[in-house]
Amino acid sequence: MADKTSDPQSRHPLTPLSVPEIEAMRGVLERESLLTDATRVSYVTLREPSKQDVIAWRPGVRLPRQVALLLTDLSTLTLTELVLDLDREAVVERREVDAVEKGSAPSFDEDLAGADPIVKADPRWVEAVAKRGVTDLDKVVVVGLSAGIFGYSDEVGVRMVRALAFRQDYPSDSVWAHPIDGVVAHVDLTNKKVLRVVETEVMHVPEESGDYLDPAVRGEYRTSLKPISITQPEGVSFSLQDGVLAWENWKVRVGFNGREGLTLHQLSFHDRGVDRPILYRGSIAEMVVNYGDPTPTHAWQNYFDVGEYQFGRLANALELGCDCKGEITYVDAVVVDDHGRPTTLPNAICIHEEDYGILWKHTDDFSGTSEVRRQRRLVISFFVTVGNYDYGFYWYLYLDGKIELESKATGIVFTSGMPSPDYPYATELAPGLGAPVHQHLFSARLDMTVDGIRNSIDEIDAVQVPTSEENPWGNAFTRSVTRLRSEKQAVRDAKGSVGRVWQISSAEHTNRLGAPTSYLLHPEESPTLLAAEDSSIRRRAGFAGHHLWVTQHHPDEQFPAGDQVNLNPGFGGLPSYIEQDRSLEGEDLVLWHTFGLTHFPRTEDWPIMPVDYAGFTLTPNGFFDRNPTLDVPPEPSGHCAATTEGSGGCGCS
Ligand code: CO
Repeated sequence: MADKTSDPQSRHPLTPLSVPEIEAMRGVLERESLLTDATRVSYVTLREPSKQDVIAWRPGVRLPRQVALLLTDLSTLTLTELVLDLDREAVVERREVDAVEKGSAPSFDEDLAGADPIVKADPRWVEAVAKRGVTDLDKVVVVGLSAGIFGYSDEVGVRMVRALAFRQDYPSDSVWAHPIDGVVAHVDLTNKKVLRVVETEVMHVPEESGDYLDPAVRGEYRTSLKPISITQPEGVSFSLQDGVLAWENWKVRVGFNGREGLTLHQLSFHDRGVDRPILYRGSIAEMVVNYGDPTPTHAWQNYFDVGEYQFGRLANALELGCDCKGEITYVDAVVVDDHGRPTTLPNAICIHEEDYGILWKHTDDFSGTSEVRRQRRLVISFFVTVGNYDYGFYWYLYLDGKIELESKATGIVFTSGMPSPDYPYATELAPGLGAPVHQHLFSARLDMTVDGIRNSIDEIDAVQVPTSEENPWGNAFTRSVTRLRSEKQAVRDAKGSVGRVWQISSAEHTNRLGAPTSYLLHPEESPTLLAAEDSSIRRRAGFAGHHLWVTQHHPDEQFPAGDQVNLNPGFGGLPSYIEQDRSLEGEDLVLWHTFGLTHFPRTEDWPIMPVDYAGFTLTPNGFFDRNPTLDVPPEPSGHCAATTEGSGGCGCS
């Protein structure tokens, strides 16, 4: 992100790393002879100062500026975690990582294309695709994908991808329409050879075009849509200064890194004369896309888009205009390539405000008043493209204190052949073209500070009450509140039948009625990881097995599937963090929320998929003493154009 503060002394300690800082980092690596032709640089992130120091920070105080990163030596495959101090221009921490035990570096840019020449030079693979009617290798696109861990002894200690192939009939053709299925190559990138070619049945390559831009496929554009314009003639209601976004009562610091993408920091709501903290840090810290087709050519398909692909680096640079309507403020993001060089992604973050229908409304029969107020939300978003899929992540802040995260999944579904029309693990999208079932499971890391650092967590369920002396008509129902006292107790799942929510409450502050101030996490009741208990992916994506995990904050515990995710054998991240079973009562709590989509592809998802949504909300619950939006004024009259007789009001949603 562009560093707009000239005076480094007054720059906030969470200001994202700038281009000059990345260049300084690279200078230190060069001076220390840590950068050779064989060196690759991954996971470059700001090493954030301690929460206490950041909260206590005042302009003029200089906290250490440190960078954490991972170095890979491709010639020896040694991994080294480093922390550099930018002020001292020195390496201050250095740790070797056992890649076999702890996982390898994420995918490098060269990996994706690197498999192509290796695979095309392998006679076994050439013969296999020829059997499937493909002999012109110039029309074959080979995609090297993260390999996972499946017990092959010859894959231990090397960098691996598994390669699937597609036919592309012309340069702008959609390759996903023409999978060359029934064959996969297991590629050792270290020794540049194909370890094995796995073949299943011979299927014809689906022929129908998936080129959704081709008039022959899409038809003529419709002409019936009239423009909808959003105008804000007096400008926007928010400001962005030195990385702090202020809108209505909200303040939030906007961050970005190449691994997690957008990060929100020190989110607070101005009330009772102070900025009351709610969320210290929020991000999408991991996501896994796991496929459910057991065919040997597809059973290994699991992609960790954060840990294996550093999806922040894949953020769309929206130079040509935001995907959002209205008055948009853009923020650039700075990411770092595999060689430690900074890249600025222009306009990677979009900020705008949206009308969101009715905030509150009442026509009172007795007082004769009829009032309506309109809801708005502030939107902070970014979009990434990871191979075939595109994901948007939209944080919404509402006037009434609600916080929402919405992920949007679009792009192209991953395709396959279709072994038979009634194959239970894929949907037929076009003749002979399948799309394997899969899940997109996200892990939101929510480092909470509800009215301060000391928080507690409860699970709240609606409960029936049996008919009894106290409940003679049997109409009663109430709620059960169960304190989750330790980390192992706080591994929980959503339950829609009882409206389960989790309450994060302050251990120090109460509202005017004496109840602890709190926020509720509302999960969507969607499936968690559906792979078998003894599957490889369950070991590696343990976090995805439950909707909720809660840990006591520790600065080294940042990633739900572990620090190094690619080729990681598993058991790292959340399942290992909670082994300590630390207390969660009145402690510094981090919530880890798994949510997502279980995707049985539809024919309507082809040849490009309309956005599907998943997310969660955080709502104030006794955080405010009353509805905090009574001071929202009515809309100026004459704001709506009415075309139907008699509908002059502004009440429509
Ligand atoms: Co999907």
